[in-house]
Parts: sequence; structure tokens; C-alpha cells
Amino acid sequence: MKIEIRKLEKRDNRADFSSGDIEIDRFFVKFAGQNQFKHKIGNTYIAVESHSQNILGYATVTSSSMNIKELKLSEFKKFPNYPLPIFRIARLGIDKRYQSQGIGGKLLRKMLYLAIELEELVGCVGILVDAKDDAIGFYKRYSFEIAPVVDGELPSRPMQTVMYLSIRTIHKILN
Ligand SMILES: CC(C)(COP(=O)(O)OP(=O)(O)OC[C@H]1O[C@@H](n2cnc3c(N)ncnc32)[C@H](O)[C@@H]1OP(=O)(O)O)[C@@H](O)C(=O)NCCC(=O)NCCS
Repeated sequence: MKIEIRKLEKRDNRADFSSGDIEIDRFFVKFAGQNQFKHKIGNTYIAVESHSQNILGYATVTSSSMNIKELKLSEFKKFPNYPLPIFRIARLGIDKRYQSQGIGGKLLRKMLYLAIELEELVGCVGILVDAKDDAIGFYKRYSFEIAPVVDGELPSRPMQTVMYLSIRTIHKILN
């Protein structure tokens, strides 16, 4: 199967997407479009089958900032103590008919390249993702680390695990 990864377009049919995770599916169908086309607060990249343009998976990303000292990671000791630019993967899901075929990995790799672009354009310290329990192993496979937060979880997403990949590690992975 030939796969392309490209930005979501208004004409794409999101209605049939089903990853098996209700929240991931609901976000894609109801909010990914308006966030990108109307509010401009986050873009969605989709993996499609080249010929049919059927959607196989998606990742919604946004630029964000974070006071990196909130994460108890030793490599941040020398960072300044104010919010720094960070690339955030807000949602990522693969349709259950196409899981375990390497598509999630391809989509994630594309996100690593986007983080490098952001680094070049405006600066970026790495990628942050709020991982659901079942996906922690997937992100670990790509060197993401669980980032313990100083006062328990981040208040915005209390039920998920914050995971982090530094821009330095991203360069190593891609080179
Ligand atoms: C988690 C998910 C994104 C993985 O996508 P996928 O296309 O099935 O994964 P891939 O086939 O690309 O797997 C890539 C690698 O990660 C590993 N992997 C995939 N899912 C994994 C998991 N849950 N735990 C541990 N490793 C995993 C694969 O074994 C593979 O490793 P390999 O290259 O050494 O063979 C997908 O299963 C999914 O959408 N699940 C439901 C929604 C969800 O949980 N989304 C994440 C929200 S944070």
C-alpha cells in the first residue's frame, strides 16, 4: 500500500475514521477541522492511501510553550526559567483496520521533521505528548521519556502521561 502524509483538507472525509479510542475518534471528526480551518489553533496531518485518499491515521499538532523546569529532567538544569517553545502532539491515532502496519511510526517520524522545522523557524526545545496508557510503549519505542511533572500531572490533562523527546535526540534519530 502506497501511503502519503499530508495536511488535512476541508474535502477529506473524516466521518468513517475509527481507531478504537472514542476520544481520539470524536476529536478527529468534530474538532480537528474547526481547529485548523476556523480557529487556526492546531493543524492535522493525515496518512492516506495514495490512490483512494482514504484516511488511515492522523496527528494533530500545535505550537506551545512550557516552563521546562516543570519537568524533572536533568538535561533542563541549564535552561532559563521561563516558558520555552515546544512542539506538542495533541492527538495521534491510526484507524484500527490499519494498526500494526507501521503507519503510526511513519506519521510520528513526520512529526519529528516538523519539530526540526519549528526549531529552525522560531526555536523549539523538543516534543511533548500526552500519551494514553496504551500508547506509552509506542512513544517509548521512539525514545520518548516519561516526564514526571513537579506537582503531579499537568492540570490541563490529568488522566494522561506526559512524555518528552528533546530536539537533540530528534536530530540523532533522523541523522
Ligand atoms: C498507538 C498507535 C498510534 C500505534 O500506531 P500503529 O500504526 O499501530 O503502530 P506501528 O505499526 O507504526 O508501530 C511502530 C512501532 O511501535 C510499536 N508499537 C506500536 N504500538 C505499540 C504499543 N501500544 N506499545 C508498544 N509498542 C508499540 C510497534 O511494535 C512498532 O515497533 P517496531 O518498529 O519495532 O516493529 C495506534 O495503535 C493507535 O492509534 N491506537 C489507538 C489510539 C491511541 O492510543 N492513540 C495514541 C494516543 S496518545
